[in-house]
Amino acid sequence: MNIGDPGRIAEDDFSRLRDFIYAQCGIYIPDNRRYLLENRLANRLKTLNLKGFGEYFFYLKYDHGHRQELPRLFEVITTNETSFFRNTSQLKVFQERILPGILEKNRKSGCKNLHIWSAGCSTGEEPYTLAIIVREVLKLELPAWNVRITANDLSESVLGAARRGVYSDYSLRTTPKDIVKKYFIEEAGRFKIHQDLKSLVTFGQLNLNDRMQLKMVPRSDIIFCRNVIIYFDDAMKKRTLSAFYDNLVPGGALFIGHSESLHHISRTFKPTHHPGGIVYFKEE
Ligand SMILES: C[S@@+](CC[C@H](N)C(=O)[O-])C[C@H]1O[C@@H](n2cnc3c(N)ncnc32)[C@H](O)[C@@H]1O
Repeated sequence: MNIGDPGRIAEDDFSRLRDFIYAQCGIYIPDNRRYLLENRLANRLKTLNLKGFGEYFFYLKYDHGHRQELPRLFEVITTNETSFFRNTSQLKVFQERILPGILEKNRKSGCKNLHIWSAGCSTGEEPYTLAIIVREVLKLELPAWNVRITANDLSESVLGAARRGVYSDYSLRTTPKDIVKKYFIEEAGRFKIHQDLKSLVTFGQLNLNDRMQLKMVPRSDIIFCRNVIIYFDDAMKKRTLSAFYDNLVPGGALFIGHSESLHHISRTFKPTHHPGGIVYFKEE
């Protein structure tokens, strides 16, 4: 045990906290990232006036305050880095190849519905980017379509920011200037997303480790889950991918982050290779 330095986490406290976090949300903190818990939870310990990580674990697990603490824990352990038009070459494939194909398929079947699910949407830049692309592709045809973008995250606080829809120019650093002009209102150096784009996106809290919540998501034509499964272990990745497979309609497409892979995780999806990356399909 590590006695003496309250800023350091003892071996057994680390294991207990790690297992607790994993059981709650599937995020796995490897041994070499122990400092991450120490750094990120230091303020929570101070605010709650707790003497160490052992006390924090018992507070989380047994104290009457644990219900309020869980969302706070999610807030501190998640990494919410994101931006508009992140990974532009992948989005180009989405805009020029995948989306037109799926729209055409739905048009032919006589149902002008499009459902996109942004799982792990953080502060909203990803789902709003998808809304912009859908608008750019459908153009004047948009009102004839029932377009819905479901955007979920584990952390309530990022969803608050997503619903407000006001961003810094840093969030827009890889967004083409004409797109910024067309879809944002600049007010005192901040950029507010247009209301008609906002109305395409529905935000909600969802834990990808919660089977019941996952079953409530309407079936999707396209799923974006980028830079999220990188924080999961293989077992959680498999559960998540299997839920995505069940959720997608036949012929539906899955986009994951450029540093992520389904190798060893899922053989059910059919990978298709494009210059901007791999897109995974559920076969018809
Ligand atoms: C790095 S951000 C990625 C945001 C966006 N998809 C992108 O690529 O720019 C990862 C997000 O996944 C969310 N996340 C992590 N574990 C989750 C879980 N079990 N359920 C739902 N969201 C989760 C985090 O809260 C965080 O906002």
